[in-house]
Amino acid sequence: MRRPLVAGNWKMNGSLESVRSLLEGIKQGVGDVKNAEVAVCPPFIYIPEVEQLLSGSDVAWGGQDLSTESSGAYTGEVAASMLNDFGCKYVIVGHSERRTYHTESDQLVAKKFAAARAAGLAPILCIGETLEEREAGITNQVVARQLDAVIELEGVDALADGVIAYEPVWAIGTGKTATPDQAQEVHAFIRSRVADKSSSVADQLRILYGGSMKPGNAAELIGKPDIDGGLIGGASLKAEDFLGICTAAN
Ligand code: 13P
Repeated sequence: MRRPLVAGNWKMNGSLESVRSLLEGIKQGVGDVKNAEVAVCPPFIYIPEVEQLLSGSDVAWGGQDLSTESSGAYTGEVAASMLNDFGCKYVIVGHSERRTYHTESDQLVAKKFAAARAAGLAPILCIGETLEEREAGITNQVVARQLDAVIELEGVDALADGVIAYEPVWAIGTGKTATPDQAQEVHAFIRSRVADKSSSVADQLRILYGGSMKPGNAAELIGKPDIDGGLIGGASLKAEDFLGICTAAN
C-alpha cells in the first residue's frame, strides 16, 4: 500500500511574514491527516526558518531544485549537502518551469536526481507534456523519454528512493486540470513503463499529480488507482486550500 504524499511547491512566492503565518495555519490543521504524508518546498532562503517552525511536526520539507555538483565555483547554486544541513527530506527536480526557463535537459535533470539520491534526499522528479505535445498525440513518448533519462543514468532501482510527479505543463497554473481519467491514463502508463524493468519498484513508487489541483478536485484525482497524491502550486500558498487537499488524500 502506497502512502499518499501531498507536497506544496511554493515556487518563488512568499515573505518571511507569510511563511510564518502559512506554516502556523498548516500546523494547526494537519493533525487530522494521519494517512497521508505532507511536505512543503519553500524557496531556498526560507528553508532555515521552515526547519525551525516544522521541526518536531509531521510536516516534512524540501528544496525546489539543487546543483548537480557537490561544491565549488558554481555561483548561485545550492548543493544537496546544504539542503541536508537544514533537514530537507525532499527536493524537486526537473520542474517544467526549470526545463523551460532554465533550459534544463532530461540528462541534466537525471544528474540532479542522482545528486539528490547520493546525499540521501528523496528527489521528486517532475515529468509532463506541453499542450502541443498532447495535441500531437505524443504524451506517452514525452514522459517516457523524461523518465528513461533517469533510469538510464541511475538504474530502475533508483526510482525506489524518489517520487514521480506527473505535471502536464498545460495544467500548471492555468486552472485547467487534467480530468481524473486523463491523469490516471498517464500515471498507469508511467507505472507500467517502470514495471517493465521492475515490478516491485513500480508497485511501491509514488506517482503524484500536479496541475491546478484544488480541494474541490483532489479527492477524485487521488481516488484513482495510480495517483498517489499531489504536487501543489497555487493552492499550497493558502493553509485552508492546502489542508483541504491533504484531507482529501487522507
Ligand atoms: P499549480 O498547482 O499552481 O497549477 O502548480 C502545479 C505545479 O507546478 C506544482 O509543481
